[in-house]
Amino acid sequence: MHPAPRAYQIKKTSTRGQLTPSRLTMPALAPHQVLVQVRAASLNYRDLLALHNPADLKEGLIPLSDAAGVISAIGPDVTAWQVGDRVSPCFFPHWDSGPFHASYLQSALGGGQTDGVLSDEIIVSDRALVAIPAYLTLSEAATLPCAAVTAWHALFVRAHLKNGDTVLIQGTGGVAIFALQLAAAQGIRAIVVSSSDQKLERATALGAWKTINYHKEPRWDQAVHRFTDNEGVSCVLELGGPDTFDRSLAAVAGGGTIAQIGVLTGFGPQSNLLPLQFKNATICGICVGSREHFSDLHQFMATHAIRPVIDRTFDFGETPAAYAHLESAQHFGKVVIDMSNDN
Ligand SMILES: NC(=O)c1ccc[n+]([C@@H]2O[C@H](COP(=O)([O-])OP(=O)(O)OC[C@H]3O[C@@H](n4cnc5c(N)ncnc54)[C@H](OP(=O)(O)O)[C@@H]3O)[C@@H](O)[C@H]2O)c1
Repeated sequence: MHPAPRAYQIKKTSTRGQLTPSRLTMPALAPHQVLVQVRAASLNYRDLLALHNPADLKEGLIPLSDAAGVISAIGPDVTAWQVGDRVSPCFFPHWDSGPFHASYLQSALGGGQTDGVLSDEIIVSDRALVAIPAYLTLSEAATLPCAAVTAWHALFVRAHLKNGDTVLIQGTGGVAIFALQLAAAQGIRAIVVSSSDQKLERATALGAWKTINYHKEPRWDQAVHRFTDNEGVSCVLELGGPDTFDRSLAAVAGGGTIAQIGVLTGFGPQSNLLPLQFKNATICGICVGSREHFSDLHQFMATHAIRPVIDRTFDFGETPAAYAHLESAQHFGKVVIDMSNDN
C-alpha cells in the first residue's frame, strides 16, 4: 500500500515553533486541482521568521513556500497539465498577473493560515503552477519561487533596469545571489556588499562588478559613490532594514529606485526620507511576484542558461539542520531539502 505522505508541521510552544515530523491524509482532488509529488524544497529567510515567531501561524502549519515536483494525478476538469509534468507552485496561488491585491497576502504558501510545501505530496490549483524549464534539475527549480521571483520583480518589473545600469545588492543569500546572476546576464553592473571576503570572491566569479566588505567598510554608501563617479546606483535592493536603509538612501542615484524587500536586521526602518525628494528617487515595495513574473523569470533564465547556486542540500529527515544552516548565515545562495529519498 502507498505510504501516507511525510511532512513537517510547526507545533507551537510558548516561545517558538517546533518542527515536527508527521504523516498526512490527502483529500480527494477538486475538479481544477492537481496532485504534485514534491521532489525538492528550498528555504528562505522568511521560514526562519515563521518558525521563531509562530504567533500568527495556524497550529500544525506545514512550512516552506518553494518546491518542485512532478504531477501524479489531475482533477477531472484540468486541461492545462498532464501526469508527469514537472512543475513548481506559485508563492501566491491567486496572483496570476496584473496588480497585487492585499487579499492575496493571506494565501502565501507556508505562512499564516496557509499550508506550504514541506511534504511528499501537495494539492495545487491548476492555475497556480508554472512549468519547469527542461534544463533545470528539480532541486535547482525548487530554489526559484520566492527568492528568484522577488529579484526578477524588483530588478526588471519595478526598477526597469537595463544594460549599463547599476545595482547595489546586500549580502550573498538567496535573493542577493539570484539578483546578481540576473543582473550580470542583463549587463547591469552589480555592486555586492557582504560580511565575508571569501563570499565576495565568489560573487566576483559570478559577475559582480565591484564588491565591498561591510564589516571592513561599514559606510559602504561612500564606496558606492567612489565607484560611480559620485552618481550612486540606479537601484538598491534593500534587504537589510533598519541597519541598512540610511546607507541605501545615500547610495541611490538621482532618479533611482530603492526596492524595499528585506528585514535582515529587523522591521520598520525610521529613516528620514527627505533625501529621496532631492534625488527624485523612488521607493517601491516588493512582495515576491505573480505567476506571470515567475514564467518570465523562467524564460530569461533558460535563455541565459542561468543555474541557481545551491549552497547545500539536506535530506528530508535533516530538515531542522537545514534551518540551522540557513540561520548560521554561512550559506552562499540557496539551501535545499531533497525529498526524493526515504530518509
Ligand atoms: N519582500 C519580499 O518579497 C521578500 C522575498 C524574499 C526575501 N525577502 C527578505 O529578503 C531578505 C533576504 O532573504 P533571503 O531568503 O535571501 O535571506 P538569506 O538567504 O538568509 O540571506 C542572508 C544573508 O544576508 C546577508 N546579510 C545579513 N545582514 C546583512 C546586512 N546588515 N547587510 C548586508 N547583508 C546582510 C548575509 O550575507 P553575507 O554573509 O554575505 O554578509 C546573510 O548571509 C530577508 O529579510 C527576507 O525576509 C523578502
